This record gives sequence, C-alpha cells and structure tokens, in this order.
Amino acid sequence: MCGIVGYVGDREAGEVLVKGLKRLEYRGYDSAGVAIMNGRMSIQKGKGKVVNLEKGIFANGLKGHIGIGHTRWATHGEPNDVNSHPHMSQSGNIAVVHNGIIENYTSLKKKLIERGRTFSSQTDTEIIAQLLEEIYTTSKDVTFEQAIQLTLKQIVGTYGLAIVNIEFPDKIFIARKGSPLLLGVGENEMFIASDASPIVEYTNKVVYLDDGEMAVVDKYSYEVKTIDDIALTKEVHELAISIDAIEKAGYPHFMLKEIFEQPRSIADCMRGRVNVKENTIQLGGIADVMEELVNAKRIVIAACGTSWHSGLVGEYLFEHLAKTPVEVEYASEFRYRDPLIGEGDVMLVISQSGETADTLAALREAKKRGAKVLGICNVVGSTISRETDAGVFTHAGPEIGVASTKAFTAQVVVLTMMALATGMKKGTISKKEAARYIKELSLIPDKVDQILKECDENIKKMASLFTYAPNFLYLGRSYNFPVALEGALKLKEISYIHAEGYPAAEMKHGPIALIDEMMPVVVIAATDHTNDKMISNIEEVRARKGRIISIMNSENSDVKDLSEFSISIPSTVDCFSPLLTVIPLQLLSYYIAVNRGCNVDQPRNLAKSVTVE
Ligand code: M6R
Repeated sequence: MCGIVGYVGDREAGEVLVKGLKRLEYRGYDSAGVAIMNGRMSIQKGKGKVVNLEKGIFANGLKGHIGIGHTRWATHGEPNDVNSHPHMSQSGNIAVVHNGIIENYTSLKKKLIERGRTFSSQTDTEIIAQLLEEIYTTSKDVTFEQAIQLTLKQIVGTYGLAIVNIEFPDKIFIARKGSPLLLGVGENEMFIASDASPIVEYTNKVVYLDDGEMAVVDKYSYEVKTIDDIALTKEVHELAISIDAIEKAGYPHFMLKEIFEQPRSIADCMRGRVNVKENTIQLGGIADVMEELVNAKRIVIAACGTSWHSGLVGEYLFEHLAKTPVEVEYASEFRYRDPLIGEGDVMLVISQSGETADTLAALREAKKRGAKVLGICNVVGSTISRETDAGVFTHAGPEIGVASTKAFTAQVVVLTMMALATGMKKGTISKKEAARYIKELSLIPDKVDQILKECDENIKKMASLFTYAPNFLYLGRSYNFPVALEGALKLKEISYIHAEGYPAAEMKHGPIALIDEMMPVVVIAATDHTNDKMISNIEEVRARKGRIISIMNSENSDVKDLSEFSISIPSTVDCFSPLLTVIPLQLLSYYIAVNRGCNVDQPRNLAKSVTVE
C-alpha cells in the first residue's frame, strides 16, 4: 500500500510530486505529504487527500527542485497529521517516505528510545529515519549510503523507500525490498515512483529496482547497487502505456470508464492470440512451458479478491475443457498451512497489479517447493510478472478504480485461452468443439458492447430503487457462482452495503433464513445446464417474498416471469457466461454507490494494491 514519488531536476518539485501523488492515490488516500529541499528541508503533510496537500504547498509557498512525496494507506498508527509521511529524524535533517511494514519496529524503537531518541509518531516508518540518523552520526567513516545499508540490515519487513538528507541537497536515496519502486530517466531530470503512472507523461524510460537493491539519484545520473554494496548495471525498459490510458476521458469516474472499456480490453487481450480462421490459440508468454501445463498433475491457482474470483472461474474452465484437476487457494492462506505442492504441479498466480504481497508470498512458497509457477498479470514489469517462470499479460490497460472490473474480464479471457489451448493440446476437446469455442470467444467483445448499450439505462433505474437496501444476496450456479461472489464484492466495497454471494443451492442450508420482503436477491441465471435447478432456487426465494433481480439470457422467459426485475443479456456457451453476466453487476454496484454519494474510485479503508501481508 502507499504511493511514493520523488523528483530531482529543473521543474518545480511540488507540482511534479502533487501530480504524481494524485495518480498514485488509488494506492492509499488516508494522508499525504512531501519533503522539498531548497537550502532547507520543508515539510508539508496532513490527513486526507492529495488535494488538501496541494492547497497547503501553495499556501505555504513550498519551492524547490528536489523532493519526495507519499500518499498513505495506514498500517501502523491512525491516519492523522502526525502519522503522515514524510517522517523525520530527530534533527530534522533526514526525511523518509516508506511503503511497506517494518515488523521489528517495536524492539528497534524501544532501543532507540533507551538511547535517547524522541519519537513523534506511532508509525513504524519513523524508526527508519531515527535509526539511520543514529548510525550516520555516531559511526566513524560511514558514508550516508553505507549508513542506509547498515540501517536496512537491521530492519525486518518490507519497504519501498525514498530518503533525502539536507547534507546532500541534490540527491535522493531509494531502496526496495518487497514494495515496488521504479526510476524514470529523463533529460537532466529523474523521477521515482511506486508505479509508472506518475512518470509516463515525462519519460518512457524506466529502471525497475529489484528486492535488495538501492540507488543514489541526482538530476543527471543514478547509481544502482545491492544493499551489500555490489554495483549493478540495470536494464532501461521502455514504457508502453500512454497518458490517455490513465486519464478519465470524460467519464465521471475511472470505474465507469473501465467498465465501458471492456469491449476493447477483452479484444486487446485476445489480439494476436486467438485466430478464428486458423482455429488456433497462441500464448507466446507460456509457449516454452506449454508441455508442463499440458502434463501438469494438477493446477493450483492462488490469488486474492477479484483475482481469486477469476481463479474460481478458471477452475471450472480447466476442469471442463482440459480435464486438469484444479485447486483455488486464497494466496494469504496458502503458505501458512504447509501446502502439498511440488514437482509436476503448476501454480498459477493471478494479480492485476502484480504487487499483491500475499500472492507474491504464495508464488515464492510454491517455487521453493519445486512447482512451476505461471502468472496472469496486468501490470507489465510488476514484481509478480518478473518472478514467475512464465506468464500471460492481460493487456487490459491501466486499471485505476480501486474496484476491479476490466481486469476481472481480462483475467477470465486469459484463463479461457489457457484452458482451451491446454485442452486442444491434450486432446480433451475435439477440433470441432475447439472451433466452436474459438468462434464464440471472438464474439464476446461485441456482446459485452451490446450489454453496455442496451442495459445501462435500465440498470441505472433499477439501482435507484435499491439504493438504500441494507443487504443484498447474490446467487449463482456453476460458472456463475464466482460471478455471484464478484457481484457481492463489488457492491460491498464501493457502496458499503452488506452483500453475500452464494452458490444458489447452498442458500437453503442457512442464508435462506435472511430472506424476507426487504431482501434483494440477484440471481445469475444465464447458464443453460443449470437452468431448471436455478428456477427452483428462484421459487424458493419467491416463496419467502424475496425480491428477485435476475440476470438472464434474452430468450429465457421462465426466469423473466419469475423476476421482479430482469436484465437480459445475449447468450453464449455456458463456460463464457461469466464474461457477460458480470457486466450488469458491475454497473449495478456502480450506480448504487453513486446514488449513495460514495467515493467510487477510492472507497474507504481500501487501496488498489495491497502490498502488505
Ligand atoms: O492486484 P491484485 O489483482 O492482486 O489485487 C487483488 C485484490 O486486492 C483486488 O482484486 C481487490 O479485491 C479489489 N479491490 C476488488 O475489486
């Protein structure tokens, strides 16, 4: 969590930092702050959003051409002014911004206090500034860089760090372990950021820092080394994202823009991979490991949140199309239960950001135990995409809204392509079946477009009727059970309405007790092979006076007749149904949240990328 930016060059640092922090606000928005050097160290920070910080910088006339900034998602210490970053050393000479968690901060803090240091915040980060200053000022012949290395060796935990010291008025010091950090290389200017979004409008040249690395940066040059002081030559990468992709393009929220982008993002995900004419699927990123995937004893999928839901769809897809056994794990649980995984198993990690700490930990654990680890990521250059043995990018474009939408559909498309390619190679689906699936898959972008065009108004109206419902139940079967979970998650995270997703048949084992005339029940009734059973479940809800909202195929008049409201969508083969049924649910949660006046793109307590375990 948390976003870090840094700038050194000829521009006004405050402007670059604020702009960059606004782009990184999706990573956390509890508080924001900057340190700018201009003969002295000027700090501006406080609780709340970057726009407050911007006003403060302007009001106090903070000027300078070098500085660091931070937007916070609170872990240690409540989100208030004092706990905002940057954190200072006791003398005020050193300022630090930090993304990550220092696990041994309590013991370090105790020792520092015993040695006479006074702390002003409750954060774990402040100990970095204080310990660093202590080491630097009390050790003989130690350079500031060496003092940073010695400090980092005492720290247990994760960090992306940017540090400035008034003694070095033209330098920023950065270090990384477990939290992403990259360096943008400009003409006589350098940028530092947690991801590429603050950098892309200035330069497309970036250097990704890896774990255990640090750098000293000035406006003309940068020097990267390990924290053990071994000099490194790093590859300079070219960024592929454009500035348009990270703007709202006239939409009121990123989330709505991203929902409406899905016809394009799904098509982009398939581009150059799905060939209808030749009846083939080519996934370059996993071509070299295809044999291992085809011969896998089983596939273990690990992910979190929405990516975990797409993993559940993947389970149905792989078992149905490729006949490979699949287990889907919460990444956060995986490594804590001595998992039975090893050679012959393939682990598939799914992550939009490619930085989720739990998913990364599961990846590392599986690798350590000898499994082949493949990745499905959206962010190119992310840690997970670089640590997996091979993988497939979703190419959905930057997803800025905290609630994941287009990343989900793109992940499901990648899983579909992987399962189809595996099934075709294994011979578990015939050529004729493959041709039908491939043709149908190629039609999905147009069908999504049709849903967005035809259902948007209807869903908006329906949302206004349910805006103040205190609870929602989402029911689905088979491929649409994960969609029920996803629909419920979307609603709770952006509208703060309590919602639960359930396999429709499980309802009678408990949740049915919740149903009365106040309970909206969203039934996802768009898979043919479970249609009759789903109708029975709808009857069970109706018998208890629950209010049925159905997502159904256009020709399914039985479901329509039983529903108070219905959203009809084009039909497809059952296994691609989640790619269509999820769209109305995304819109429903969006409009309800807007009606309730919620901050859709930055819901409370959340952050886009969860880089702490
Ligand atoms: O970047 P990741 O896909 O690894 O993120 C996983 C979850 O944190 C994420 O899907 C989260 O649940 C979203 N806010 C859901 O909309």
